Amino acid sequence: MFDTHAHYDDSRFDEDRDALLASLFGEKGVTHILNCGCDIPTSLRSISFAEKYPRMYAAVGVHPHEADNTPDDYINRLEQLLQHPKVVAVGEIGLDYYYDTPSRVAQKKVFLEQMRLAERTGYPVVIHDRDAHKDCMDIALSFSKVKGVFHSFSGSLESMKILTKAGWYISVSGVVTFKNAQKLPEIAAAVDEDKLLVETDCPYLTPVPFRGKRNDSGYLAYTIQKIAELRGTTPEHIAKITAENAKKLFRIGDEIERIGDEIEK
Ligand code: NI
Repeated sequence: MFDTHAHYDDSRFDEDRDALLASLFGEKGVTHILNCGCDIPTSLRSISFAEKYPRMYAAVGVHPHEADNTPDDYINRLEQLLQHPKVVAVGEIGLDYYYDTPSRVAQKKVFLEQMRLAERTGYPVVIHDRDAHKDCMDIALSFSKVKGVFHSFSGSLESMKILTKAGWYISVSGVVTFKNAQKLPEIAAAVDEDKLLVETDCPYLTPVPFRGKRNDSGYLAYTIQKIAELRGTTPEHIAKITAENAKKLFRIGDEIERIGDEIEK
């Protein structure tokens, strides 16, 4: 299982982070984890995990919630962090209109600056879109050379079709197991097989029957199980294709896996 969106820097993992990650990569069947930064400090934490765990990778970026708190030189700093061999994406970036702050103008500025960074450097992006579907999609699609994933997808079936046709990936979270998941089950069933990803967004969005508990990548099995039921296939198949898709999007080939093997030794 490739968990394409995690936040192991969260303080809810402070007590048992190392033991937990060791068990996830051991008996829990997790093969790869992408830890996503939300600002410069958490991007650095993501890199520190990638340096410690062979199959952990990092995305570096500034979340829309942090749009008012970015240092003036944040684009330069992110560009430097992208040089690290286990940094595979710019993220998470995007728009979040659920709260009134930061202002939409500030969020768009920071989102656009990071999309330009991705365009210039050729990295894929991890997009956070909450209650901002139209603006997020318009901006994403206006960068024809940038591709990436809409994480914990919450848009419409129609938007999913437009995005995947344009080469974007759709990541399904534990929300697909919720009773109030609304349109997500239908979307998870309909995404083209080569554009589907899975994630935990841990410690958030724990799938049923553990909803409310702290999430971790081990619970991804419940999300995969649900998607397999919806698509009339096996969990093994969903785990396999979503891992292949993630490796393709984030360009995790033999060379970068060898860096992990070195860490293992
Ligand atoms: Ni996130």
